[in-house]
Amino acid sequence: MAFLKPKIPLECTSFMKLKYHIKTYGCQMNYSDTERVMTVLEKMGYEPVNHYEKADLVILNTCMVKKSSESRIYGLGEPFKKLKEQNPRLKIGITGCMIHKDTGLRGESKEKVFQRMESVDFVFRIKDLMHLPDMLHKMHHMDGADEVSEMKSYFHINPKITNLTQVFIPIMSGCNNFCSYCIVPYSRGRNESRDIAEIMDEVEKMAKRGATEVNFVGQNVNTYDPTDADTGSSDSPFTQLLRKVDAVPGIRRIRFYTVHPQDMGDDVIALYGGLKSMVPHLHLPIQSGSNSCLKRMNRHYSVERFKELINKLRARIPTISISTDIITGFCGETEEEFMGSLNLIKDCKIDLVYVSKYSQRDGTLAARSMKDDVPYEVKKERFEQVTEAMKEVSEEYLKQFVGQTVEVLVEKVEKGYASGKIPEFKLCRFKADNPKLVGQYVNVKVDKAMEWCLEGEPV
Ligand code: SAH
Ligand code: SF4
Ligand code: F3S
Repeated sequence: MAFLKPKIPLECTSFMKLKYHIKTYGCQMNYSDTERVMTVLEKMGYEPVNHYEKADLVILNTCMVKKSSESRIYGLGEPFKKLKEQNPRLKIGITGCMIHKDTGLRGESKEKVFQRMESVDFVFRIKDLMHLPDMLHKMHHMDGADEVSEMKSYFHINPKITNLTQVFIPIMSGCNNFCSYCIVPYSRGRNESRDIAEIMDEVEKMAKRGATEVNFVGQNVNTYDPTDADTGSSDSPFTQLLRKVDAVPGIRRIRFYTVHPQDMGDDVIALYGGLKSMVPHLHLPIQSGSNSCLKRMNRHYSVERFKELINKLRARIPTISISTDIITGFCGETEEEFMGSLNLIKDCKIDLVYVSKYSQRDGTLAARSMKDDVPYEVKKERFEQVTEAMKEVSEEYLKQFVGQTVEVLVEKVEKGYASGKIPEFKLCRFKADNPKLVGQYVNVKVDKAMEWCLEGEPV
């Protein structure tokens, strides 16, 4: 009971169930990692709670791709201090991309994180998740999950599946590209690929439990390089993996994030319209629609190459959906360079853009050698222009589905509607109130295209 908590000495806590809460920031890679952290904590006897105010253990799985992502974490320092006064058992740990090899392990580091956030008790690299039970044993006298310490990689820990409708499976971690603006190679380290056999084992287990959509995650999936690929094959290892997953009974959709335009090979393109589960959607981040800007970003491809890739994809599937990432106001971005990005969205009919205002990250090439000289107001104005252009393309793209029957994989049922994605990654809803529809495929005849969503009737 809450009022008893402060009176219980730490040594006496073993008979009580301690509660944990994980707050996850950033990309799908982190969300997928969180599922492995959950397994470890639950093996040790912790119980999940949905808010950190109710927890005895809070783990922040962090992102640091933009300054705002990092500030959000440091902003929690004060509230956590207060919570610790109310609950002396409370321990705070940080993992994810803010913690890298120079930040130290097992709490002994005196690095930035501890200086800026006194309430933090321990930090660990996600790669060192195997050592978490050991750390928690010291802090909370919790036992269990001994087998985890023996594991060679944190990937060997089974994830706790929080969403069986769409499972996210990391196939690699880290990045070797060093785009000049990006912190990921410093925070996540270099490319490390999981073996095909290990991934297939995970996919098969998930499929047996009912998963039908697999989402592969990695910073640059086209450079996937496991030790057990068939070196005699003309297919890249990534293509080999996709073919194997396509053959798993029950798997109906495969998506992946993220592809790098410089490494996208014809063998992967040939799978569009070829493999039954390859969805007609590709996220292909361009970052800028200007060759000079791409050069400063250390992205080794041209706008022409990007357009060529899109043309090849549209030759195979004319209605394929293409989404991208764009950064506005990168160092030295001129009006003309920005117009390149804006025009590209319209010319290439990019129907979804994840747009970011450039945020300088310490340690990156851009921070070391370029000036963050585009005023914030200009970054913001360009951000809004990109959003506006994308809206127009998106609305046009959605209109083509009116009158057609689309297949919806239902993700949720609430407020009288069931909604989920069609293969092209667009949201579609229809009137329904049966929660059992979640995870089901429903054919829907579209009668309306709204700003971000289709609506129709099941057929
Ligand atoms: N591996 C992916 C991107 C991962 S980071 C790729 O190569 O495309 C996700 C997105 O965050 C990037 O695509 C970029 O648009 C954005 N981003 C990364 N660093 C940024 C920075 N310093 N400022 C603003 N946006 C950034
Ligand atoms: Fe960052 Fe570039 Fe690697 Fe993507 S490819 S994670 S943008 S360094
Ligand atoms: Fe952020 Fe790390 Fe992903 S920095 S975008 S959580 S790889």
